[in-house]
Amino acid sequence: MPPRPHAPKAANSRHGGAGVYPPAPHNKGMPVQIGRRESDFTHPLGLLSDCHRRIERFLNVLLTLSRTRAGSALDSAESASLRAALDYFRDAAPEHTADEEESLFPRMRAAGALAELDQLESDHAAAAAAHAEVDALGSRWLDAGSLPAESATRLADLLLQLDETYRRHIALEDSEIFPAAGRVLSREQLAEVGREMENRRIRARTER
Ligand SMILES: [Fe+2]
Ligand SMILES: [Fe+2]
Repeated sequence: MPPRPHAPKAANSRHGGAGVYPPAPHNKGMPVQIGRRESDFTHPLGLLSDCHRRIERFLNVLLTLSRTRAGSALDSAESASLRAALDYFRDAAPEHTADEEESLFPRMRAAGALAELDQLESDHAAAAAAHAEVDALGSRWLDAGSLPAESATRLADLLLQLDETYRRHIALEDSEIFPAAGRVLSREQLAEVGREMENRRIRARTER
């Protein structure tokens, strides 16, 4: 997924814009992103929230295509948007999960366990399973040019389930978990989180 999902200043269609579709309806009321400078690895909590905005944008691409095209033939712009969204959730989104589960949450637990962290990790597992199925269905849509009705319905159901999960999950992380991390973790601990996030992306780039 070069450049990486959290790479500051990334603005290509894969990581910045999400194709031809407007922001997700549930983005209403969230800070306007246009022209906003993204956080960098020295501000890991801001970077994690920036990633949430990308998740919302790419999920909205999938929801819009599912709703408007329902498995029927796509034009070239729609195909490109679908491919970019599938790529994002296959390659980049798992790094966000690793940032939380391997870098942020363990330090928060050590500083005083939060019950919500267990639920958030269970959401990650459920979302990963749903995304694997979405990826298979979306790839089939791209390869075959269309989807049978039952597959299109299954794709729509999975995306609605993901939308519901992400709304609750992201709201909790943005409004409670990340602010709590800012209070309970030291400046050095947050710097370590940022370094681990950066190294995770350097490693992934090297391995691809
Ligand atoms: Fe999360
Ligand atoms: Fe998150």
